[in-house]
Amino acid sequence: MTKFRWGYIGSGNIAASTARSILRGAHEITAVYSRNAKKAEAFAKKYGAICYRSAEDLLASGKIDALYIATPHTAHVSYAVAALEHKIPVLCEKPVGVCLADVETLIDCAKKNDAYFAEAMWTWFSDVARTVRDWVHVGKIGRVQSVEIHYAFPGLQMPKDSRVRTPETAGGALLDIGIYPITYCCNLFGAPDEICCTGELKDGIDVRETVELRYLNTPFGDFACTLHMGLTGLRESCVIKGSRGEITLPGFFHMASKAVLKCDTVRQTFRGKTDYLTEFTRVAEEIRAGKTQSDFVPLQKTWECMRVMDVCRRQMGLYYPFEAEKGLPQTDWEKLNGYIEGLQDTTAGDMPQDEKVAALYRQLKDGAAQASDMESYWNSFPQLSDKSKASLRR
Ligand SMILES: NC(=O)c1ccc[n+]([C@@H]2O[C@H](COP(=O)([O-])OP(=O)(O)OC[C@H]3O[C@@H](n4cnc5c(N)ncnc54)[C@H](OP(=O)(O)O)[C@@H]3O)[C@@H](O)[C@H]2O)c1
Repeated sequence: MTKFRWGYIGSGNIAASTARSILRGAHEITAVYSRNAKKAEAFAKKYGAICYRSAEDLLASGKIDALYIATPHTAHVSYAVAALEHKIPVLCEKPVGVCLADVETLIDCAKKNDAYFAEAMWTWFSDVARTVRDWVHVGKIGRVQSVEIHYAFPGLQMPKDSRVRTPETAGGALLDIGIYPITYCCNLFGAPDEICCTGELKDGIDVRETVELRYLNTPFGDFACTLHMGLTGLRESCVIKGSRGEITLPGFFHMASKAVLKCDTVRQTFRGKTDYLTEFTRVAEEIRAGKTQSDFVPLQKTWECMRVMDVCRRQMGLYYPFEAEKGLPQTDWEKLNGYIEGLQDTTAGDMPQDEKVAALYRQLKDGAAQASDMESYWNSFPQLSDKSKASLRR
């Protein structure tokens, strides 16, 4: 079989890690574009690719079977949209954007262009995580009682201008690493019924948080997942407890090479690989099979996970500098106020016509549904007019 040809955008840490891994398999990197031309050229030379002067030139080159986007989170959507509009399949690093509106833009664009789009959530391209899900779903541990996941790494020791510490690139723990435990739970149990997040913000980013995802009346039981993430220390673990047993992922759960099931008197270990080569190979197979989304990381999971992260951010009051006025441009707030003020009944009625405003309205309502004190939640949005607040209280 001919090698699968990848175009790379970005030539930083993860670009280098994936390049080293995939070149051991039936893949080649044929094209590279990155902001810093010198670094991009060095990267292209090292991995045998052509370096392009612009992303547009790369996309028009006809030399790639798919695009892999490995820039900071804030620079994912524009490249992905450009590629999808060229009908080029896209594997985009996690998180695919910084908010739900970004995810919805990408899903719409992929659907409109009938082009493949997948989040590079490598954990879920692995048979280890998929086996854990199978064990839970067939009831090996009985009714789920609790899930506890820790993911911390010393991100605060990275240079001050690294993307992880920079608010302008949506740095912080939640979007960088919190996405792994949240995605894990969404993949095991679906979207949570309740979300409660408390965290610590410093210098414009979230340095740590605890997220509780509550699941009510599910086929697996009533239970909560407690997720701890942070940019200090080094800790990774995942324990899923049930009425008949438990599942643990020893070592680094998000890239686990084994999962251990203990139930009744049985102890079973599943061994597998969680690596970039498996991820890229599975994506290449799906693209060659003509799929437009991944069975391993469906668009719906990317959507669910980002929705949880949006709610967490609102509960913590975490907004990035580019999200003027708490994430919503002023004109959108005006439209939203106009819509809410005109509502007779906030529980019924059509969504606002404007898609973006509709998404914002949904986000607000979701945030309120999760808030422990709805009044303080509405009051935390100074952009909401008094009339809107009165309408929302009805
Ligand atoms: N799947 C995983 O295991 C994993 C692991 C780590 C990171 N990630 C994800 O991968 C992404 C990148 O992380 P990283 O750690 O590799 O970051 P990084 O080391 O800072 O690299 C980012 C790269 O993107 C380039 N870049 C920045 N802005 C750009 C733009 N607007 N247009 C084109 N190129 C641009 C940078 O070039 P310059 O040198 O010119 O700035 C650099 O080459 C993040 O979204 C992160 O969440 C995934």
